[in-house]
Amino acid sequence: MKCLVTGAAGFIGSNLTDRLLREGHSVLALDNFSTGFRDTIQSALNHPAFDLREVDLLEPGDWSDAMAGVDAVFHLAANADVRFGLNHPRRDLEQNTLATFNVLEAMREHGVRRIAFSSTGSIYGEPTIFPTPENAPFPIQTSLYGASKLACEGLIQAYCEGYGFQGTIYRFVSILGERYSHGHVFDFYRALKQDPTVLRVLGNGKQRKSYLYVQDCIEAILKGLRDQPGISIYNLGTDEYVEVNDSIRVICEFMGLTPHLDYAGGERGWVGDSPFIFLDCAHIRSTGWKPRLSIREAVVRTLEFFESNPWVFERK
Ligand SMILES: NC(=O)c1ccc[n+]([C@@H]2O[C@H](COP(=O)([O-])OP(=O)(O)OC[C@H]3O[C@@H](n4cnc5c(N)ncnc54)[C@H](O)[C@@H]3O)[C@@H](O)[C@H]2O)c1
Repeated sequence: MKCLVTGAAGFIGSNLTDRLLREGHSVLALDNFSTGFRDTIQSALNHPAFDLREVDLLEPGDWSDAMAGVDAVFHLAANADVRFGLNHPRRDLEQNTLATFNVLEAMREHGVRRIAFSSTGSIYGEPTIFPTPENAPFPIQTSLYGASKLACEGLIQAYCEGYGFQGTIYRFVSILGERYSHGHVFDFYRALKQDPTVLRVLGNGKQRKSYLYVQDCIEAILKGLRDQPGISIYNLGTDEYVEVNDSIRVICEFMGLTPHLDYAGGERGWVGDSPFIFLDCAHIRSTGWKPRLSIREAVVRTLEFFESNPWVFERK
């Protein structure tokens, strides 16, 4: 298969790229390196079936010709940062919704139909049903990130309906593992390296979240890929959740530290932080997929990655 991966230099995109190459597919990568790193695609760059175009998805004139002859698009490029959305309200709209529109239009122009899209559990806002199924109502958006991703989902669904696209939408919980470069494990580890005596925690530490190991996420993406016109939607997560305090315990144990925990207080770490994320993954499990790593194991893998890749903190 000739695959086009947007965001291929990012955390999940680079792991997906390596997997596709390993399976004998060719990969054309589009990335503007706004949050991605060359280090993550170093091995791919040496692969004969890999090609990189350093382009911005907001400038389709620079790259839409790349769609010619592509069999499947894996659209992962985005502003993946949920927390600071209110500081720059245009960013999610542009980097997520408009960029997705540009990808869909380039596909239409070149007769490409198959798209896999990285959405998020954030689109459920603060759900009232747990574990949250794909058909749960999500009437109130609590973050600009979630709102922009929900708009992307709407566009993809309309292209499936209107132009016969084959779309798969994956609503991820937070992903952990090798090349992870943003999120609470990153923040806590970096803070503890700087000051091992005290750790500032946003919220009360009792936020409950589910996490998924990156290789399990990729396995699920490949398992769920649709080859018929229409849309499939899958939650991707594990059948367990942990408190932020549990993550802190694992991190401190791993680092051999007993810092004073300084809680900012409140049920949420920031506006838009859902106090409880736990997705019903029966649909993706019906394909035969199941996660290999527990949340604890995924946190430890992430910490091991940090220990052997300090560059990830220097680059940020
Ligand atoms: N990491 C998670 O926990 C998580 C959870 C839910 C959903 N997602 C979604 O999964 C996808 C990948 O997330 P990630 O954690 O790998 O993020 P990431 O920031 O590591 O990767 C995103 C990549 O997209 C590139 N990019 C961003 N804007 C671009 C643009 N305009 N043009 C070209 N390239 C651009 C960046 O340079 C980066 O390489 C995102 O869509 C994100 O919203 C991630």
